[in-house]
Formats: sequence, C-alpha cells, structure tokens
Amino acid sequence: MRQPTIEWVNVTPDLSIIACESGEVWLGNPRAARTEFSPFAAPMTGAGAVGSTVRLLDGAINLGFAAIENCLARPEPTIAGYVVALVGAYHTSVDTPRNLRRAAGRFAALGRPEVAAYLEERAREETGHDRLALKDLRALGVDGERLVAHYMPEGIKPLCRRFDALCLEDYPIGCIGYSYCLERIAALKQETDIERVRALCADGTDATRFLRSHSSLGSEVAHVEETIAFVASLPANDRIRIVQETYASALLLADGYNHELLKSEATILEEIARALGETPPCRSFSPVGEPPGARPAA
Ligand SMILES: [Fe+2]
Ligand SMILES: [Fe+2]
Repeated sequence: MRQPTIEWVNVTPDLSIIACESGEVWLGNPRAARTEFSPFAAPMTGAGAVGSTVRLLDGAINLGFAAIENCLARPEPTIAGYVVALVGAYHTSVDTPRNLRRAAGRFAALGRPEVAAYLEERAREETGHDRLALKDLRALGVDGERLVAHYMPEGIKPLCRRFDALCLEDYPIGCIGYSYCLERIAALKQETDIERVRALCADGTDATRFLRSHSSLGSEVAHVEETIAFVASLPANDRIRIVQETYASALLLADGYNHELLKSEATILEEIARALGETPPCRSFSPVGEPPGARPAA
C-alpha cells in the first residue's frame, strides 16, 4: 500500500510546516530538526500530493494571519469602508493580467511551458476584474475612475509592489503563492458577507459585482482548486518557494487589511474627499435605514 505523501517547508528560519496527505499538519523548528537529525532537516525533494500541498498553502496563510490575530481590527461595516475596499480591489487586480503574462513569458523562455500555460490561463481568467470594482463604485454614485487615479490605500501599496516585483523576478514562481493567498482569502467570503454589504446600499443598488465574483459564490473557488492541483504537480523546489511566498503575502495582506480597518470613519472620508477633490455624494454614504459609522469587513 502506498504511504501517504508528507511535504514540508521552512517559512522562516525558526518555523516549518509539515503536512501529511491524510490530513495531519505540524509546526516544526528547522534549527531543532537539524540537531536532532530529523528527516525534515533538509528541504523536501519528493513529489507533491493535493492533500498535503493544500495543507502547506493554507497553513502558511493561517500562520501569516496568526501574527496579528490579537490586534485584528473588526470595525462595523460602512459604505465609506466598502468604497476603500473596492479601491483596493481595483488596484490589486488592474495589473494582474499584464503581470501574469510577463511571468508566463519568462517561464516560456525558461523551457517551462506548463507553468507558462497555467499563468496565461490565469491572466485570461483575471481580465476585466478591475472593471467590476469600477462598476461597483459607479453604482454607489462615486466617480471610480477619478478616485482610483488619485487614491491607493496605504495598506494596499505593499501588496501591489510585491506582486509587481515577484512577476519581474528571473524565476517568477513566487507570483503563484501571492495569487493563491489573495484568492484563498477571497474564497472564504460567504453569502452573508455579500448580504451585509447589500444591506448598507440604497434599495436597488447593485454594488457587489467584484465581491460576488471574489467569494465562495464566484469563480474564486474554482481558481483556488485549480491552483492547488497545479502547485501539487510542480517539483519540490517550486512548491517550497510558492509556500514561502504564500506566507510572506499573508503577512503583508494581514498587515495591510489591519492598517485600513483601523482607520476612523472621518479619516476614510477625508482620504476619499481629497482624492475626488470634493465631498463624496451623500446619497452613497448615508444609506437609508443604516446608522452612520457602520463599515463592511474588507
Ligand atoms: Fe480576480
Ligand atoms: Fe481569481
């Protein structure tokens, strides 16, 4: 009988994730493993399996968010907070197809057509998602084009820079870890999260196109499943690099979300007004029946 696959990755010099195809996950200490002559002291070299690869990837995200677990902001949802989330959604998706194609071109040149084809496909799937965020902003009565042209939320900047840099690397496999992290988090959003935003909006306003498509109800679930299967099929060195980048991206994402969610309503409104060059339209920011001060989770 075949033994279940075990995979492991050091995400920091002191922390490794060890995952078994049958479901168990352990955290280890790479330094201790070396002195104890553990089988996990050296980097893994074997083939991957979906069951263990997904646990490494999700373990990396959990560890990244655990770093700020105790100081995680949980503000009440508001339209202004949702507008900022949509601006962030725009900026994290507008360059995605171009960046993924650049990375695909690099893998084609490196003689890795399977990685190039995967990234090309992802670029196709992600095309137009920035437009969904702009449409949602328009539905809220906000000039989305003007807002995104003059405003990138501080917490989003490091993420965008990271993805740009990853896709420009000589061996840009890390961009898969970054994308997985963002898509996996998005796929956790449930119908209740969408309903919560709908409840904030004026009757008849549909401003949840981006959210729906990047939730458990949209294409994100399929993207996540495809990525897990693809990563599991890659050589060990690639899987190691992807899991490490998933962890690094989770740290950036957790930190960036928190930065934005900790802002007061007054600060958010001021930032939006400065970018628009005018006070945001009252219709959008004072929905009927909702007390001012409520904000959606990003
Ligand atoms: Fe997307
Ligand atoms: Fe996606």
